[in-house]
Amino acid sequence: MCFAISTGHRLPLPSPDVMPATIVLGAQWGDEGKGRVVDYFAQSADYVVRFQGGNNAGHTIVVGEQKLALSLIPSGILYPDCTPVIASGTVIDPSVLLAEMDMAAERDLDTSRVRLSGNAHLIMPYHRKLDAAIERYLGQNQIGTTKKGIGPAYTDKYARFGIRVQDLFDPKIFREKVEAALEDKNKILPRVYNTLPMDADEIVDEYLGYAEALGPHVTDTSLLIWNAIQAGDDVLFEGAQGTLLDVDHGTYPFVTSSNPTAGGAIVGSGVGPKTIDEVVGVAKAYISRVGTGPFPTELLDEAGDKMIELGGEYGTVTGRRRRCGWLDMLALRYAVRVNSLTKLFLTKLDILSAFETIKVATAYSSGDVTYDEFPDQQSVLYHCDPTYEKLDGWQGDITGVRAYRDLPKEARAYIEYIEEAAEVEVGWVSVGPERSQLIEIG
Ligand code: GDP
Ligand code: IMO
Ligand code: MG
Repeated sequence: MCFAISTGHRLPLPSPDVMPATIVLGAQWGDEGKGRVVDYFAQSADYVVRFQGGNNAGHTIVVGEQKLALSLIPSGILYPDCTPVIASGTVIDPSVLLAEMDMAAERDLDTSRVRLSGNAHLIMPYHRKLDAAIERYLGQNQIGTTKKGIGPAYTDKYARFGIRVQDLFDPKIFREKVEAALEDKNKILPRVYNTLPMDADEIVDEYLGYAEALGPHVTDTSLLIWNAIQAGDDVLFEGAQGTLLDVDHGTYPFVTSSNPTAGGAIVGSGVGPKTIDEVVGVAKAYISRVGTGPFPTELLDEAGDKMIELGGEYGTVTGRRRRCGWLDMLALRYAVRVNSLTKLFLTKLDILSAFETIKVATAYSSGDVTYDEFPDQQSVLYHCDPTYEKLDGWQGDITGVRAYRDLPKEARAYIEYIEEAAEVEVGWVSVGPERSQLIEIG
């Protein structure tokens, strides 16, 4: 079924007070609600830039009764004056991008504004095949990837075997690059992963077929952003995934293959660090992760089930049940540190209304050792026991609250506790998935 989302829909909300160049990124393991946060900030932005990742991301925006799930198009698409930009640090599956643009166009959204970097790397059919084959091969040790080809596409990028969007516009070069890549892949696929080799002609025909539709969108996005910032326009940088999924700073190897942290926004967009005015971290009022890997505060009991069911914690991309647990202050403090967060946007506070007591992890203990900072040794994360601080719940419906002072005092105490423990201001809190269900804290 197709719902048209009115591009002209304006909120009866105050315009968010964000700085000209603001990064919005996930402070946990992804799915924090970045899509809805960016959609909110985008009402006063001129550009929204996706800087890393690909269609492993699933960002949900809810306007009235209508829901829009985006994987590649930046969340600014709903505002007619905002230009969505897909920058060079991303990996693009062209069939997915074009299908998403068709889906958006069916909802009367103007997709002609979408800008795509020619330097972004392409996810090729052999990347998807390798992603699935590697996961199968890893068996019990699998990462639980989205199987969209993300890891293999970034692997080829760094191995300098990658094929970029700009290559689609030179058929001779494109064919040469596909043939060179298949030299390697067609040995690995059958011999290592016991799967069928792939045909160069088929891939070349399919991909060159995308060039015409993608062509008008391809731009030097770094220059576009530079010019925008010089002109005093507002630019939002929209992270995908989250800090703990960062290939350098996350829970390696149970991570994605890019840098969702603030540094990734700089490199992946082609701007300098001094360009950035503000870095907003998005965190759920609890925490979730999808896929495998260590998760100290995971709840494998009724409380966890309650978070999953009430929070609708099922993956936007893969439909997988997300694992849920109490808020982890060590992880949040870590996100503040590695991203230089200037503010937090706390989402899904309404889900905690169901709990009489709310717990927050303040330290881990492992053997005789107590950790009050996120440990850099991965093995600790598997074996540690979190120490919890207990806070009173409020157990009242807060989904209709729009002013901070109207939140129950226990909810305010929870937010203030987080601010103090994470040493960062909570600028906004959301109390429901719908666009208007949020509170700007003075
Ligand atoms: P993202 O990947 O960070 O953009 O997050 P997702 O869209 O994958 O997952 C967040 C989910 O929570 C989506 O289904 C949102 O509609 C929903 N959501 C966001 N904020 C809130 C909130 O404050 N309350 C509730 N109940 N749901 C929310
Ligand atoms: P958004 O942007 C949550 C997880 C996968 C897996 C790991 C590696 O919606 O927050 P990949 O396919 O990237 O190689 O998988 O990363 N993962 C996400 N988890 N939200 C996401 O994106 C994710 N993108 C990837 O589940 O554990
Ligand atoms: Mg998501």
